[in-house]
Amino acid sequence: TSQPLPPKEKTLFNRILKCYEQKQYKNGLKFAKQILSNPKFAEHGETLAMKGLTLNCTGKKEEAYELVKRGLKNDLKSHVCWHVYGLLQRSDKKYDEAIKCYRNALRWDKENLHILRDLSMLQVHMRDIEGYRETRHALLQLKPGQRAPWIGYAIANHLLKDYTVAFKVLEEFGKTQQNDYYLFDEEMVYEHSELLLYQNYILQEAGLFQQAIEHLETNKEKIVDKLSWLEYKGDLCVKLERLEEAEKIFTSLVNRNPENHSYYQKLESVIKPSNEVERLQIYDAVSAIFPKADSPKSLPLTFLTGPMFQERVDKIMREQLKRGVPPLFVSLKPLYKEQEKVKCIGEIAEQFIRSLEANSKFSPDDEEIEPPTTLLWARFFYAQHLDKIKEYEKALQLINESLEHTPTLIELHVLKAKVLKHLGDTAGAVASMDEAQSLDTADRFINCKCAAYMIRNDMISDAEETAAKFTRENVSIDEYLKEMQCMWYEVACASAHSRANRYGEALKKCHEVDKHFTEIIEDQFDFHQYCMRKMTLRSYVKMLKLEDSLRSHRFYFQAAKAAIKVYIHLHDEPYQPGDRIQDEKESSMSNAELKKLRNKQRRQERKKAAAEERKKNEQHDKSGKKNHTDTILINPSFCNFCQISNPLEQAQKFLAPLELYCSGKFETHYLAFQIAERRGTLLVMLRALLRAQKVAKESDMPNLHVCRVRFAKK
Ligand SMILES: *[C@@H]1O[C@H](CO)[C@@H](O)[C@H](O)[C@H]1NC(C)=O
Ligand SMILES: *[C@@H]1O[C@H](CO)[C@@H](O)[C@H](O)[C@H]1NC(C)=O
Ligand SMILES: *[C@@H]1O[C@H](CO)[C@@H](O)[C@H](O)[C@H]1NC(C)=O
Ligand SMILES: *[C@@H]1O[C@H](CO)[C@@H](O)[C@H](O)[C@H]1NC(C)=O
Ligand SMILES: *[C@@H]1O[C@H](CO)[C@@H](O)[C@H](O)[C@H]1NC(C)=O
Repeated sequence: TSQPLPPKEKTLFNRILKCYEQKQYKNGLKFAKQILSNPKFAEHGETLAMKGLTLNCTGKKEEAYELVKRGLKNDLKSHVCWHVYGLLQRSDKKYDEAIKCYRNALRWDKENLHILRDLSMLQVHMRDIEGYRETRHALLQLKPGQRAPWIGYAIANHLLKDYTVAFKVLEEFGKTQQNDYYLFDEEMVYEHSELLLYQNYILQEAGLFQQAIEHLETNKEKIVDKLSWLEYKGDLCVKLERLEEAEKIFTSLVNRNPENHSYYQKLESVIKPSNEVERLQIYDAVSAIFPKADSPKSLPLTFLTGPMFQERVDKIMREQLKRGVPPLFVSLKPLYKEQEKVKCIGEIAEQFIRSLEANSKFSPDDEEIEPPTTLLWARFFYAQHLDKIKEYEKALQLINESLEHTPTLIELHVLKAKVLKHLGDTAGAVASMDEAQSLDTADRFINCKCAAYMIRNDMISDAEETAAKFTRENVSIDEYLKEMQCMWYEVACASAHSRANRYGEALKKCHEVDKHFTEIIEDQFDFHQYCMRKMTLRSYVKMLKLEDSLRSHRFYFQAAKAAIKVYIHLHDEPYQPGDRIQDEKESSMSNAELKKLRNKQRRQERKKAAAEERKKNEQHDKSGKKNHTDTILINPSFCNFCQISNPLEQAQKFLAPLELYCSGKFETHYLAFQIAERRGTLLVMLRALLRAQKVAKESDMPNLHVCRVRFAKK
């Protein structure tokens, strides 16, 4: 510092620090006042900064910033001032600015562990990985006796793909540890095991398979996560062409969990069966040991053909219908890509139903008599089949018949709703879903489905009412769902609003979804320290990678698409608040007059809305039927979303992540084209057109063609 304090004031200053740590803000401010009231120290930088920091915690952020900046100006060589400024910026989520402050602080106090640690977290958070490695290196130099600096430096090297350094750092760290220190504590045993697996993961990423497999062998006893150990070893054996060993490992993995599909794939890739029969043997062997497992029975259906397929699928269908397993259709669904199999499944189901209706048997020459529920599930399955092959009317009829027998089977109502949705009868779909919902009001899944169907039918207030059955008391549904980051709901609302031209509301929802993604990215901040402490390093590194492409998620895609469409519309037809003539009149008014007028307008609007609501309700009562079309109102509280001068720039903001993460989708480039067209940027149009052409599917051709024509014309 350029302003050292004499001993008495120095003591006071240390008390301020202590008070801040112990959250005794009032006392802290008192001590600060004692220093600052002495004219000699009225402009003492560090004291001003600390006073600011303390004030911030009492909720006076603006005043705090002013004081901290003033303090800093008075003492630019003080690491305390810079650190305090950095702390403020960090808690304000201005991470770039905070990093600058911390760097400045370090110029005056190179070895401050606290600042170095804080800085490193910010750097990895902002993905300044080079900077992170430097800071981590500095920390390691200062504290080679602790665990965290080693781990941090290894992670930094790993993220920079300096695998050998990363591995060696961990190896060196192992040497500094006393032998078997960890055996005395269960938690430490687990942490050490994770550390070894992380080290192994680094070797695998480096492509050093031989070294990795040796490392696994050497540390077999110390790695307590046996599943990961086996999976790693199996994969490594495949890479090293040690197929016999790999077969043994994947066989034991299948025996640990016969429902994990990836193990079968791997087993097949090692055994390399040369024909259908040999391939089937792999699965039958497992089935013999685990007769109740579904996967070894249903997976072969994907490759079997002809009579063998028929025999197997027949058997599975009987078994599952008998057990009354509603998700039979779900397990057969992957087969619906192949026409022949679809036909075969349909015929079998039809035969079952005919025979069950006639004599309660799957086929006439069967011995066993089936209970009536088997017929019910057979019909249910067949209706799902009909829906899938787009025979909606037939499906509906079958569901109707079944409902006559068992009007309380929820699954039937849900299926009916789905079929009606496919037929375009969104209102009928809601009625069916509502019925399902009323049969089990405690089922959260049905409740969500019901709300989703209502939104699709533009019944947003009903959807809110329905969804509110599962939300917390005394919290508005919008607030609650926002807090829960319930994005399917927000995306659905955005689409409904934009269909009804309520652009402000639609944009609000889209921005909410976008904000959730920002929040999720910000939430990782807490994990940088946590994961390192808990040693969940493999998960940590995977999380960092996931966060880097977070906006590839379909919820972001859907929200961005909706937002871009609205912005394009707002560009083509800019939003006009109210009447033009009125606008001119307004511009000559004083603020107070304007406020009065606005209030009057709002009152009138509310009155009008209430009157319309009443009229609507009367209509309901008359027809006795629900008909909810929300009144189209330009809601003043959403105007700010529409009254913007640069809709295309806003659209571009939503587009950027799509171009980065969803470049395989036609719609991404179709939207890019439309924006570029309006901006008049020909080369960007051409680029979008070429990219769209590359990924266009049959159904995209009409839109692609229109783009070509519009480009040629331009
Ligand atoms: C500043 O105040 C806010 C709100 O009281 C608080 O959340 C934040 O942690 C404070 N910042 C610092 C660095 O103490
Ligand atoms: C199956 O195993 C793979 C590892 O080979 C794992 O990533 C996956 O999560 C497992 N799936 C299930 C459903 O357990
Ligand atoms: C199904 O039943 C509803 C009412 O019970 C009826 O309106 C509809 O026409 C029926 N659909 C078929 C395909 O039978
Ligand atoms: C909700 O509000 C009502 C009335 O204001 C109150 O009686 C009730 O206790 C509140 N419930 C909860 C969970 O806070
Ligand atoms: C609901 O209202 C709209 C417009 O007022 C009308 O076109 C539609 O037929 C009504 N639907 C029902 C089911 O009454």
